[in-house]
Amino acid sequence: MTRPKVVIDTDPGVDDAVAILLALASPEIDVIGISVVAGNVPLGDALGNACRIVGLSGRSDIPVRAGAAGPLVRDQVFGKYRAIGIFGDDIVAPATMAVDTEHAVQFLVRQARLAAASGELLTICAIGPLTNVALALVQDADVARGIGHIVCMGGAFAALGHRTPWAEFNFYADPHAAEIVFRSDIPMILMSLDVTCQALFTAEHVDCMRSRGGKAGAAIAGLLTRFDRSDLARYGRAGAPLHDAMTVAWLVEPSLFQMRPAVVGVEVGGYTAGHSYADFHGQTGRAAKVMLATGVAEAGFRDLVIDRMARYGKRSAGGGG
Ligand code: RIB
Ligand code: CA
Repeated sequence: MTRPKVVIDTDPGVDDAVAILLALASPEIDVIGISVVAGNVPLGDALGNACRIVGLSGRSDIPVRAGAAGPLVRDQVFGKYRAIGIFGDDIVAPATMAVDTEHAVQFLVRQARLAAASGELLTICAIGPLTNVALALVQDADVARGIGHIVCMGGAFAALGHRTPWAEFNFYADPHAAEIVFRSDIPMILMSLDVTCQALFTAEHVDCMRSRGGKAGAAIAGLLTRFDRSDLARYGRAGAPLHDAMTVAWLVEPSLFQMRPAVVGVEVGGYTAGHSYADFHGQTGRAAKVMLATGVAEAGFRDLVIDRMARYGKRSAGGGG
């Protein structure tokens, strides 16, 4: 099987940082670019963080492009951790790489058209608000033909929302974009809070990344420690989820997950804007194009993240890997 060509659309974000490093340490996928969207933090900070993380990975050949600075329609909201802003210099070294001048949406359109022409379809790993992806889809009807899969982190179905009681942040931040993407009928793999909150990383796991992951592991451990996202009241046990990393884990080791076909939609207006709902029984009359993750092997997912972070430690020790 050829390595899927992947564009990571992201709003870094601490868990985005883990997802990007996991992807760039995984030879199973071919990351051809990173498109950045406002979400957790304003676009400028997200861009700076993306460049810092790519620089940290040693893969400054991976281009970073700027996308949407805000949602399609609703007022802009940022993540609960907006205070993160730019990752501190004391945790992640300032970026040395420049942002590519091509707009991220134009990049997505161009790559999708190339993929449609070549037949080697594109995978989009969407781990922020879906504004860039939606803008690409509405620009050109051919774009959807070039996208084989969108592997997305977003939504909440059996689980409660966390940005509001009824909505997960990525869909809450731009519900219109999410609805456009789900209406496109592009095959999707969806990692919602239902599954991302099933796998928690404790201080022990963070220490493993710090001790085995070289500079990248130390930086991730620093971010996870400084911006502790554990929530004993919500999760009932120690540790914090790494929501976005699950999308990359599916690309690398899909057998870690239990999946279920569904039709998915997102409320775009009113008090419950951003709420995601699923039709598992064909009641909407639409084809089920979304595979919704309902379960994950927690230990296997943790091991994958920690082991791939350790590859950065081997590289810096000159051990290759
Ligand atoms: O709800 C979690 C999602 O919102 C993650 O992608 C996180 O990075 C934020 O973007
Ligand atoms: Ca994110």
